[in-house]
Amino acid sequence: MAETLAIYPGSFDPITKGHLDLIERGSRIFERLVVAVLVNLEKEPLFSVDERVDMLREVTKGKTNVSVETFSGLLVDYAQRKKANAIMRGIRAFSDYEYEFQMALMNHKLSPTLETVFLMPGESYTYISSRLVREIFRHGGSVKDLVPPVVEDRLREKAKANKG
Ligand code: PNS
Repeated sequence: MAETLAIYPGSFDPITKGHLDLIERGSRIFERLVVAVLVNLEKEPLFSVDERVDMLREVTKGKTNVSVETFSGLLVDYAQRKKANAIMRGIRAFSDYEYEFQMALMNHKLSPTLETVFLMPGESYTYISSRLVREIFRHGGSVKDLVPPVVEDRLREKAKANKG
């Protein structure tokens, strides 16, 4: 049987400790895990795709079965090209459920043999989101406990550059 390959897609703007927790869990379940950053030209991100990929590679560098890539277009098409068995997504709270449920069903409709697997992060990460990290950063708050150190460093550099 071919190896089990899961894709963990997302914006990762920026990667949080919650994402990292999920990557750790996923890398123990699947033989290969591809963290796939969506190239979304419509959004105005805090970090460029290259910066996000860089940070993801930095925080996953010890994990031999985890790789980081980018994708654009439909997730199911990318998953098919990669010959993936599953999409991995995290569910933190009920509030995530509706969005994730809709996306999983739509992906299932588009690609019936591709399964979505949901994992829960450790409970201490359930309140963390990239959106809140960006908001706290914008207002000068501390994100120390929310993101890996490499992200904190990059945010500090960004804050310095913004001040000019
Ligand atoms: O971390 P996010 O921003 O919640 O991730 C959303 C993501 C990237 C998984 C989703 O937007 C996606 O898969 N986009 C690719 C386009 C696509 O396939 N859209 C249909 C999804 S049902």
